[in-house]
This record gives sequence, structure tokens and C-alpha cells, in this order.
Amino acid sequence: MSTPTLSFEPPRGMRDFYPEDMLWRNRVFDAWRQSAVAFGFQPYDACVVESLELLQRKSGEEVSEQIYHFEDKSGRKLALRPEMTPTLARMIAARQGQLAFPVKWFTIAQCFRYERMTRGRKREHYQWNMDVIGEESVAAEVEILAAAAAGLKAMGMPDSAYRVHVNNRALLAELLAKSGIAPEHHAAVFLALDKRGKITDDEITALLKAEGLGEESIRQTFALLGVRTLEQAAELAGADSPALATLRELFTLAGTYGIADRLVFDIAVIRGLAYYTGIVFEAFDTERKFRAIFGGGRYDSLLTMIGGAPTPAVGLGFGDVVVVEVLKELLGETAAAEKSGVVIGYMFPEQRDAATRLARALREAGERVDLMTARQKPKQFFARASAGTAADAVFIGPDDVAKGVAKRKNLATREETELPLGT
Ligand code: HAM
Repeated sequence: MSTPTLSFEPPRGMRDFYPEDMLWRNRVFDAWRQSAVAFGFQPYDACVVESLELLQRKSGEEVSEQIYHFEDKSGRKLALRPEMTPTLARMIAARQGQLAFPVKWFTIAQCFRYERMTRGRKREHYQWNMDVIGEESVAAEVEILAAAAAGLKAMGMPDSAYRVHVNNRALLAELLAKSGIAPEHHAAVFLALDKRGKITDDEITALLKAEGLGEESIRQTFALLGVRTLEQAAELAGADSPALATLRELFTLAGTYGIADRLVFDIAVIRGLAYYTGIVFEAFDTERKFRAIFGGGRYDSLLTMIGGAPTPAVGLGFGDVVVVEVLKELLGETAAAEKSGVVIGYMFPEQRDAATRLARALREAGERVDLMTARQKPKQFFARASAGTAADAVFIGPDDVAKGVAKRKNLATREETELPLGT
């Protein structure tokens, strides 16, 4: 009887990271960490398993329906987190009395969502989160956006290759209120409008009708999305609109940070999570070929929603999937593969000791050394070395051992330097 064949594929939507994938992942993670630290964010972490109750909200958000959940052996309802923000809110609420606000925290969190798989959407992804908790002013938003811009630069993304689209839900709320739509409907209207492009306008109309909006209100709601500039928004909201003042302050401060060239006002950016209360933003590749690179915004009510004290908060989630696709397209599939260190091979078993001693000495000196585990013919060795990740190669034959010197060859330039083999 033959053994049934198991699939070599990971579960659908989950990802294997082969060494060439790890090069990209490390490049992105290094840039995230480096930029968060450079901007004074402190690291935090939590388990990927969270209580289902904390994550599930009744607002009709897509993310609540995408949760992977299960019961443990004691019947506790648990889930794999689809995002980090509720966990962060829980951790802040648990220490609210002890923390010196504002706090600036960051993490790289693995998240799971049972999504319909499309380009840039997996069922598992890593998400860089940076949040500023306890700061009301728009300085928090700009600090986060500048740190994200530094992260993109550090991973090799040209400034011209992306734009951050910024809006203010408070502006939409002011405009909806002027159209006679009561505040209790605003959250549902935001979530419906966020679906634009994903479902038809007729389906959005049906959602708005179900929320109790009349035909005229629905028409006015769609008309809002036609606003293109802050000046047009000012005509509707009035020159003294607080939400517009916040947006203007954000763009001015972004100028001081040197990132204003990458920010654009975009009333259509609403975000699919119900907890945002103010500024919201999403970054896209300039050509708009891919899904959002990152997204975030202000969520001043989340702490109270989970039972904590009122605390202003703003943050960002930046996934690893889309940005790697964008970088590969811009820089080439192999751009993350930087060659470094040395690969050492030998011709006959008699040279193994000399090769091993050389590897040991170079490793002790801090070099990255890939020592072959079996003898090879020179042709075989150099073919493999050229295709590998080392910058230099050393091949030791009987003559080298006799002379006590080996040649270290740069695989790109073919330049050679001599290395004493010692005893
Ligand atoms: P989000 O927009 O749901 O926001 O996700 C943030 C980012 O995570 C997206 O822009 C994308 O880069 C990535 N992402 C999300 N889902 C997937 C997926 N299925 N596959 C690949 N990448 C994905 C949040 O999660 C908020 N909690 C962000 C936040 C933090 N807001 C305040 N603080």
C-alpha cells in the first residue's frame, strides 16, 4: 500500500519563507525597526492568541468577520489576532495609572485574517505598528507619518514612488451633519463609503438605505466624495471648520518634517475600521497599481470602548506583503540579495583541516563564512559560489597547503588577495 501524498503547499493563504524570501523580509523588518527606534518609539509585543471578545466588534467591519477563532480545552473563546490595535489598547488600559503619557510604542505583529485572496492580500501577514497614545495634537500623526516615510526610505523606496492620502473623518462628520445625517449614523456611513470600488455604488446605496438614510441624504453623501481640494471642502464645511484646521495644521507641520511632498488630501480615504475618529491616512504606490502599503489614523474612543479611561490615540499598520511587491517591481526581484562574507571550499579530504582552520579564524574575526561540508572539484565549487550569497571565495588545493597561502577571490571583480593558511 502506498503512503498518501501530502501537499507540499502551506495551508491556503499562509506563507513559507525560503531564504530568498527572508532576504526581503529582513530588509523590511530591519527598516521598520531602525526607523521606529530612530523616532524614539519603544518596542512592545504580545501573544498572537487573543481573547475573541476583545477582537469582535458589532460594527459591521469586514475584519470582525475574518477572525480565525477557536475554543481551548476549557471552552475559552480565543482567536488569532487580525490586527494589533485592540491588544495594544488592552495593554495600555491595564497600565493606565502607571504610564507617563504620551507613550510611543512599536511592534512587528503577525496577524491572521480569513480574507478573500487577491494580489497583496494573504491570510497571514506581518504588520509594523507604531502608535502614539495620550497625545491630542496632530503632532502625533505627523511624527508617525515621518517615521513611516523614513522606514520606506530605509528599505529603498524612492520618495516619488508613493503618496500618503490623508483625510479627516471629523471633516466628513461635519459635512454629513450639515446634510442632516445624525451622528449615530456616521460610523455606518463611513464603513459603507469605504467599500467604494470594492462593491457597486448601488450596493452602497442599499447599505445606506438600510441605515435609514433618505434619498436626498444618500445623494448628498455621494456628492461629498466629489470634493477634491481643501478649498472645496472649506466651501462646504465653512472657513471655521475645526476638522479643516486640523488638516491644515497637519500639512504645515509635515512641511517642517520635510515630508509634505508625499502627502495629498483625499476625501475618499475613510478606512474600514470603525474605531477611527479623526485623521485617517493610507499610503499607495504613485501609479496606484497595488493595494494600500500602510494605513492608520486617530482612534480617540477605543480605550473607552474597551473599558479604559478616555485617552487620545493615533497609529499606523504597515504590512509586509504589498511593500515587498512594490519594491520588487521597482528595484528587481533580486535587489534584496546583498553579497557579503566568504565561501570556503577544498579539493581533497586532506585539505579539510586547512579549510576548517581558515574558516574558524575568519569567523572568530567576525566574518560571515560559509564552509563547504564536502570536497568539490574547482569548477563545481566556483559555479556554486557564484550563484550563492558570498562576496568572496577561497578554494584550497594541495598546492595552497604546501605553500601555506590561499587566494581569496572577489567573485564580482575577480580580484585576488592572499591569505596565510597558518598551521
Ligand atoms: P488595516 O488597514 O486593516 O489597519 O491594516 C494595515 C495594513 O496591514 C494594510 O495597509 C496592509 O499593509 C496590511 N494588511 C492588512 N490586511 C492584510 C492582509 N490580509 N494581507 C496582507 N497585508 C495586510 C489596521 O490593522 C489597524 N489596526 C492599523 C492601526 C494601528 N491603526 C491604528 N494603529
